[in-house]
Amino acid sequence: MNRLNEKVTVITGGNSGIGFGIAEEFKNEGAKGAIIGRNKATLDDAAAKLGDSFIAISADVTKVADLQRAFKQTAERFGKIDVVVANAGGGIIGTVADLGEADYDRTMDLNLKSVYFTVQAALPYMNDGGSIILIGSNAAHRAYPSFSLYGAAKAAVIFFAKGFSNDLLSRKIRVNVITPGTTDTPAFDKFVPAEQIEAVKSHFADTMPIGRIGQPSDIGKTAVFLASDDSSFLLGAELLVDGGLTYLAK
Ligand SMILES: NC(=O)c1ccc[n+]([C@@H]2O[C@H](COP(=O)([O-])OP(=O)(O)OC[C@H]3O[C@@H](n4cnc5c(N)ncnc54)[C@H](OP(=O)(O)O)[C@@H]3O)[C@@H](O)[C@H]2O)c1
Repeated sequence: MNRLNEKVTVITGGNSGIGFGIAEEFKNEGAKGAIIGRNKATLDDAAAKLGDSFIAISADVTKVADLQRAFKQTAERFGKIDVVVANAGGGIIGTVADLGEADYDRTMDLNLKSVYFTVQAALPYMNDGGSIILIGSNAAHRAYPSFSLYGAAKAAVIFFAKGFSNDLLSRKIRVNVITPGTTDTPAFDKFVPAEQIEAVKSHFADTMPIGRIGQPSDIGKTAVFLASDDSSFLLGAELLVDGGLTYLAK
């Protein structure tokens, strides 16, 4: 398949989990471009798996200067950019009684500020008619224990898809958001002791109406659709790629 033939793409957090799943599907559809992350080992590993059509750029998405450098570097290497995926993010767990100012700033910087400035830094290098894909979360719709801050940041990201689409109408740049449900990624390793991971994943699979947790490729295939001209009538849309978790009672 060649639905993204020669399209220049940038995926933040493309060195792990959902972001890498998106990069793989993009590559399979003929795209090229850059993945952005901080961890040198996973950047090198992901770049090796993606092959010559992708480069890995080390940058911190919470730092505006890093983002500006990363998009400039991508455009210098590949020319103007067609597709941007603002995927980097992650949860910090805790209640309003526990999480203080530093945790608040860290959560909002990583999940909300980063998305705003990823898009802003990309714009000077993007082709008109391009596609921007944001990554929300099921936690923006359902209040899970200890996920208030993260859920609120992701709810704002879902709004950005509408707001940014409006802002960018004159350039015909479409902004849409994918909302994953529980997805099998290394993010689990950050919260769950290694010996409990399989049991926790199995528990989550039981909570999913569809009977399994998502795979990065599930999100990647949806991102291909949003990146391609097949979705040319979608603007400010949210696609729930969640196995029914958000709206189906089980
Ligand atoms: N997994 C799920 O169940 C799930 C569900 C709903 C939504 N999501 C969302 O999906 C997205 C991807 O999550 P994932 O599960 O794939 O997690 P993951 O495997 O932990 O990947 C997170 C990615 O974000 C990058 N990242 C984090 N902080 C960064 C920073 N300051 N600067 C640059 N890159 C940074 C990481 O790269 P480095 O390690 O190199 O920093 C990594 O590539 C996130 O936005 C997450 O909130 C995940």
